[in-house]
Amino acid sequence: AAAEKGGHPTFMDKEIAEQPQALADTLRGHFDGTRIVLDEQRLGEDDLRTVDKVFVVACGSAFHSGLVAKYAIEHWTRLPVEMELASEFRYRDPVLDRDTLVVAISQSGETADTLEAVRHARRQRARVLAVCNTNGSQIPRESDAVLYTHAGPEIGVASTKAFLAQIAANLMVGLSLAGALGTKYPDEIGREFAELEKMPQAVADTLALMEPVRQLGRELADARAVLFLGRHVGFPVALEGALKLKELAYMHAEGFAAGELKHGPIALIEDGLPVVVVMPSPRAQPLLHSKLLSNIREIQARGARTIVIAEAGDDAVAPFADTLIELPVVPALLQPLITTVPLQILAAEIARSRGYDIDKPRNLAKSVTVE
Ligand code: G6P
Repeated sequence: AAAEKGGHPTFMDKEIAEQPQALADTLRGHFDGTRIVLDEQRLGEDDLRTVDKVFVVACGSAFHSGLVAKYAIEHWTRLPVEMELASEFRYRDPVLDRDTLVVAISQSGETADTLEAVRHARRQRARVLAVCNTNGSQIPRESDAVLYTHAGPEIGVASTKAFLAQIAANLMVGLSLAGALGTKYPDEIGREFAELEKMPQAVADTLALMEPVRQLGRELADARAVLFLGRHVGFPVALEGALKLKELAYMHAEGFAAGELKHGPIALIEDGLPVVVVMPSPRAQPLLHSKLLSNIREIQARGARTIVIAEAGDDAVAPFADTLIELPVVPALLQPLITTVPLQILAAEIARSRGYDIDKPRNLAKSVTVE
């Protein structure tokens, strides 16, 4: 078993380390110089050209990967994109027709609720595109088109490399749609793709900076709860960070949109409560950056222990960070591919310090094939 883990203490550590490769493998071969190439395409170009609305359905971390991509897909395609938990979507009466594209995201391709959401959509003649990590699994088999994530097998129950690969694949779905709809031209798609292609290196650079995060994880082993705040694409990252901590460390954790602070979460702040804040780039998103800065001041004034994930060189936030984790500079929409990494490592380290098996958290299954 030690050999299977490639020298890492757990599969999760191995899979976190494999993330640059997972991203590179997922991107490889999907841009032909003019458009994004899917892996299986049983839809004509015309089918995509008439799409006027997108639903994205998924569960767990896959759902968060879709939330991250929603910001980019709306920006690039100018289509309304609705994110739906598969377990809600399948029992609702969503407004769908043949011009609706439903994107179903699933690492395993076998999650019961996501599969039923696909069937629910197809019965209403919507087209379905699967983003999946498992060749030949049920969800891609029942979909009209497929984009595979090539993260390789993921053994750790809590998703890590498959999650980053899902984000990259979702972004390619967005670029593919933008090409079909004509909202982006081949040269623009090529430019966005080139930015994506730099991300495996950015993730590798991020991984090299994680020692202070491990140290922090050991310090927080006895915390009672941790809150996570973010805005824009940092919001789903906050949700994912909280989910990882719940899954692995069995610690109360919640992710919030920082703009909601005054609508409830601020009441939870007490002396010493760790709050992880995912900062937007001061350069690329100055307005959002200033909003988060004032959120941090508010929670720090009330005694929170602020843990700030920020772009390198973000001098404005430094005075308000009890712990500052600085990450490489990347385009704003791609930031989640790197800001997620310290949150995975933080959760793993807290769990380890508490003596838990991070590959097999209690009560959880890798793939939820029954409701
Ligand atoms: C389980 C796993 C999660 C995963 C979710 C969805 O809860 O523990 O890591 O995100 O299922 O799985 P899927 O295979 O559909 O992506």
